[in-house]
Amino acid sequence: MLENGFADREPSQVMVEDGKVPESKRSCFSRRHCLFFVLVLTAVLFFYCTDIKEMTTDWNQTKWWIPFKDHRQNLGSLNNDPLSSELTGFQTQSGSTVLLQTENITATNMTNRTATNTKASVVTQQLAKTIPPSPVPYKSPGLYLVEYPYKYGFIINEPKTCEQQKPFLVLMVPVALHNRAHRDIIRSTWGGESLVLGKVVKLFFLLGLQTGEGVQQLQDQLLQESREHHDLLQSDFLDCYKNLTIKTMVMLEWLDSHCSITSYAMKIDSDMFLNVPRLVHMLSSAPKTNYMTGLVARGAAVLRGPRSKWFVPVELYSSSVYPRYALGLGYVLSIDLPKKLILASRHVKAIYIEDVYLGLCMQYLGIPPTEPPNWGYFQVFPVRYSRCAYSRLIATTTHDDTNRVRDWKDFKKPGPYC
Ligand SMILES: *[C@@H]1O[C@H](CO)[C@@H](O)[C@H](O)[C@H]1NC(C)=O
Ligand SMILES: *[C@@H]1O[C@H](CO)[C@@H](O)[C@H](O)[C@H]1NC(C)=O
Ligand SMILES: *[C@@H]1O[C@H](CO)[C@@H](O)[C@H](O)[C@H]1NC(C)=O
Ligand SMILES: *[C@@H]1O[C@H](CO)[C@@H](O)[C@H](O)[C@H]1NC(C)=O
Ligand SMILES: *[C@@H]1O[C@H](CO)[C@@H](O)[C@H](O)[C@H]1NC(C)=O
Repeated sequence: MLENGFADREPSQVMVEDGKVPESKRSCFSRRHCLFFVLVLTAVLFFYCTDIKEMTTDWNQTKWWIPFKDHRQNLGSLNNDPLSSELTGFQTQSGSTVLLQTENITATNMTNRTATNTKASVVTQQLAKTIPPSPVPYKSPGLYLVEYPYKYGFIINEPKTCEQQKPFLVLMVPVALHNRAHRDIIRSTWGGESLVLGKVVKLFFLLGLQTGEGVQQLQDQLLQESREHHDLLQSDFLDCYKNLTIKTMVMLEWLDSHCSITSYAMKIDSDMFLNVPRLVHMLSSAPKTNYMTGLVARGAAVLRGPRSKWFVPVELYSSSVYPRYALGLGYVLSIDLPKKLILASRHVKAIYIEDVYLGLCMQYLGIPPTEPPNWGYFQVFPVRYSRCAYSRLIATTTHDDTNRVRDWKDFKKPGPYC
């Protein structure tokens, strides 16, 4: 969760609790004394046509115009703030308008689809022992619908890369289609690390589809980029914030079908710094199964203000807190988990907040996220670059104005870090 905004804190004091944190545009506003403040901005949805209940049942070819407006927002809180703390922060992106169209979910029988896979059947049998056998039929949550489970296909794929290169770790980076600059920066910094401590590391970018003007041109550029780098995975869902859960689930499906040879996968946002050697080092002594780690949020409040960026109506999720989940800025999975999470997703109603959704699926599986061995490893508030500080962490958000390439070059220079 977390898209825009967030707060700052001392690098060494990160523990996310009781709150949501912004996931992409992050910027810092102060230093110490800030531990208890999370500022988050967000876009607001004004839903014209209807109330939520109505939408919940309105499940045919109805279109809604949803204007997003600039806006500040309650992010819940980190640390020990009361769940209700309304934090107003800074402004975010400019308003934009999105046409949301719902369509019938034509019954791609996902249970059936995965069940035909023999390996999946084995897992299903194993899971059947621990999971109550009462599948909740998928029901559209209306406006907050996530069109998943659904069988999405790949337009650009790298089906054989893992098989051929046998990575120990794959880095999966969701990124907007047009954001070639971000991809190039990642390729020339931490994403370019292909052999770390003797282990093969592979990088992939996850993309959806775009609509509107210039689509064909953009697609041609993507194909060219794919021929150059062989690291793009493009699926046929519409790429937008509300579809991030789809992106994550498609990622898990891809890992399960095309990269089960790896030992671990990490989903990491494109604006992060990643210390790959420290990550590989941590993983070399990590559990091999049922392992998900990152910055683990506990007792995060469900935001009920309809204007909240992460508003979730009671109809969608009734409890007032989320289960423990690893923040979406960067989490690591052992490779047995994608299959299990996909199976769990057939029983857990999809919500659009992707990291929370994985938390719900983990809860369903009865597998709690694992705390990292060092609680400073994953940082949600940007740590200012220094060789010493960055050598001690695994992943941190960065400021927008960070010169990542310069910092990376400095970080890779030989010599002591501290
Ligand atoms: C589909 O939507 C239209 C307009 O919102 C509504 O009048 C109609 O009853 C709906 N049909 C079904 C089957 O829900
Ligand atoms: C959508 O569902 C309705 C009712 O279930 C059905 O009559 C209609 O043909 C469906 N439309 C499409 C495009 O599948
Ligand atoms: C999906 O497949 C499962 C097992 O094959 C079956 O029990 C279920 O009824 C199917 N659901 C639909 C909607 O076809
Ligand atoms: C899956 O569905 C297809 C057609 O819908 C059916 O022929 C097949 O038997 C199903 N497989 C399983 C394992 O249920
Ligand atoms: C999410 O993706 C689906 C599948 O492409 C699409 O039908 C839907 O409109 C998308 N959602 C939004 C909010 O754009």
